[in-house]
Amino acid sequence: MRRLPPVLLEDGCPRELISLIRTILAACKEISFRVGQGALSGVLGSTLDENIQGETQKKLDVLTNQLLKDILLESGYVKAIASEEEDYTVAGNPDASYIVAFDPLDGSSNTDINSLVGTIFSIMRAPENSDAADERIFMQPGKNQVAAGYVLYGPSTVLALTTGKGTRFFTLDKTHGTFLLTEDFAKVPEETSEFAINASNQRHWQPAMQNYINDLLAGETGPRARNFNMRWIAAMVGDVHRVLCRGGLFTYPTDTKDPNKPNKLRLLYEANPMAMLIEQAGGIASTGTERIMDIQPDAIHQRVAVILGSKNEVETCLNYHK
Ligand code: F6P
Ligand code: MN
Repeated sequence: MRRLPPVLLEDGCPRELISLIRTILAACKEISFRVGQGALSGVLGSTLDENIQGETQKKLDVLTNQLLKDILLESGYVKAIASEEEDYTVAGNPDASYIVAFDPLDGSSNTDINSLVGTIFSIMRAPENSDAADERIFMQPGKNQVAAGYVLYGPSTVLALTTGKGTRFFTLDKTHGTFLLTEDFAKVPEETSEFAINASNQRHWQPAMQNYINDLLAGETGPRARNFNMRWIAAMVGDVHRVLCRGGLFTYPTDTKDPNKPNKLRLLYEANPMAMLIEQAGGIASTGTERIMDIQPDAIHQRVAVILGSKNEVETCLNYHK
């Protein structure tokens, strides 16, 4: 098993980018420890606050955001950050080359039940001569990402990382505090018989998704002529990790449950980094009508529909949307 920096150096990854990734991982090791302490660390449960998106903040949302924010801004490697838990972008070193968008603790409702949570991050270059305080530096499509990843805090702590040369898994050796390479070329199987969707929203989906899921549920006597299995972890990071490991289709589609919020997942720090990891492992990530990484963002907390995973199954689902 190899340590992380040589692997990235061999890929020709710039040293400054490696240092930035290592900085993020330093915070994630601390988060892994805190999450692992559970009730012992006194950080379970909610705060009395809401974030700008109207979601109740968990104590761990606030803590993990602060950890990442402090370490990134102090490092000097970032020009600015955007976080799920920050209303606005935060300026860093005006001379730095990179910007980072992150979800400090995805699936945070799972913390109180000792289930899967993770940190998701997306790294892009800041435009030349840009102003660190100008949030428009984040208005770039996901195809501009130079690196993307997540750290999943599960029975083991796993990093999924891409710098554009495939998707790799690293496992945190908690005795030595080192991420070791444990899967060099993650590959999403093209075929699958497994899907992930919050089925409680079924009546609110658009007809295309209604029809697609109905056909999956019809099983071997339906038009798909085989049975499908369903899984839902309620943390995108957990569901995407399963898809990267053994294939599947994950979707959080557009729905009409709340007319002010037709989509749930955020483009900059959820959909884009997951889309890059999935595409780098041979899968597809789409909104139903366009490639996620082609979307030109116009707001840092913008939400999008997400359909991602095994190539053939996502294509089948997209055919229902034509
Ligand atoms: O961050 C949003 C998120 O928690 C995702 O991680 C997850 O996939 C989804 O929302 C869960 O949604 P629901 O609460 O509808 O199950
Ligand atoms: Mn999230």
